[in-house]
Amino acid sequence: MTTPPPTALEFRKALGQFPTGVTVVTVEREPGLVHGMTANSFTSVSLHPMLIAICVDHRAKLLPLLQKKKRFGVSVLKDTQEAISEYFAKREQSAEAEQRLAIRYHWTPGGIPVLEGAILHLTCNLVDSHIAGDHTVFIGEVETAAVHDGEPLLFFRGEYRALAGNH
Ligand SMILES: Cc1cc2nc3c(=O)[nH]c(=O)nc-3n(C[C@H](O)[C@H](O)[C@H](O)COP(=O)(O)O)c2cc1C
Repeated sequence: MTTPPPTALEFRKALGQFPTGVTVVTVEREPGLVHGMTANSFTSVSLHPMLIAICVDHRAKLLPLLQKKKRFGVSVLKDTQEAISEYFAKREQSAEAEQRLAIRYHWTPGGIPVLEGAILHLTCNLVDSHIAGDHTVFIGEVETAAVHDGEPLLFFRGEYRALAGNH
């Protein structure tokens, strides 16, 4: 007897069994202005050279911005930043909403925006991309890495979690 392939919903639910951290990928969309997107597809890829990957849905506004700017930030969120993850998972972003959520950007000397309060800031140069189904895998070469105090926000079975003992 063979097992039938999962439906899209079953596939999504099944993959939710794999716990991840949560990142926000940021790009300068216009001079001094930022577009961010919540992404948990982030992974490390290579040490020599230092490469990371993120997978971006073809419908995401971030995709053409990444292709154009070729430089981006990755902020690994802290366990107190769930509302920020939710904000950057919405299609509409506004200065008013960012003020309300106290979202602030730090601009690196290289001119890449990252999110204040995150536990890790990476700045990356886009070095490769691969279309894979309805997503594109972007490979970034890490230029800078800044590690900060705090515990990570986790995502598991479609819900936010914190490390045991943190709540
Ligand atoms: C926890 C979480 C993780 C996500 N991870 C990804 C991801 O890795 N890639 C992706 O394309 N969308 C991901 N999304 C969905 C996007 O954040 C969402 O579709 C967003 O609106 C697209 O951004 P845009 O404003 O650039 O269109 C995730 C959403 C959540 C809540």
